[in-house]
Amino acid sequence: MNRKIVVLRWGHRPERDKRISTHVALIARAFGADGIIFSDVIDQRLKEKIDDVVRRWGGDFFVEMGKSWRQVIHEWKKKGGKIVHLTMYGENIEGSDVLDRIKKAEGDILVVVGAEKVPPEMYRLADFNVAIGNQPHSECAALAVFLDRYFGGKELLREFKNAKVRIIPCRAGKKVIRIG
Ligand SMILES: C[S@@+](CC[C@H](N)C(=O)[O-])C[C@H]1O[C@@H](n2cnc3c(N)ncnc32)[C@H](O)[C@@H]1O
Repeated sequence: MNRKIVVLRWGHRPERDKRISTHVALIARAFGADGIIFSDVIDQRLKEKIDDVVRRWGGDFFVEMGKSWRQVIHEWKKKGGKIVHLTMYGENIEGSDVLDRIKKAEGDILVVVGAEKVPPEMYRLADFNVAIGNQPHSECAALAVFLDRYFGGKELLREFKNAKVRIIPCRAGKKVIRIG
């Protein structure tokens, strides 16, 4: 399956959400997404931070910012992509066949996670409203669990190309090699 998976971070507030939005981006990258879009906002320092991780740890994860969320979704759908909105009100990923339907659907996937309250329109625009359990928790947990289930754990073994540093897993201590 060679479809793109991109995360849309909705509602990022630079003065409040810097840390958690950085985590959302790092989770997206580490758990197999191709990139992240921060809608309706430009936060240059946040972008630099994530780009710096990509430079050192490899891969071609991209960060985009500034477009309105409606435009991002409109363009995504126009190209035949699907919208997966993570929300505690959605279909439970464990108790329904929603993940199978997502896997069978055609087109690239845009996974939406909110910072503040997501507008009701998002629930209608989404092709799938998916709950990682129907209890409130966090966009970080929701995104990590969704991506891990989508990729069946295989993303955890992915090699990131052009990395300058790489970890050699070991039982105790830290082994890091520097490349180039
Ligand atoms: C911490 S919540 C804040 C939500 C906001 N306070 C509200 O009332 O809508 C931020 C994001 O985490 C995600 N989230 C939280 N719990 C979830 C769950 N059980 N399943 C899926 N996504 C969840 C959703 O994407 C949500 O927009």
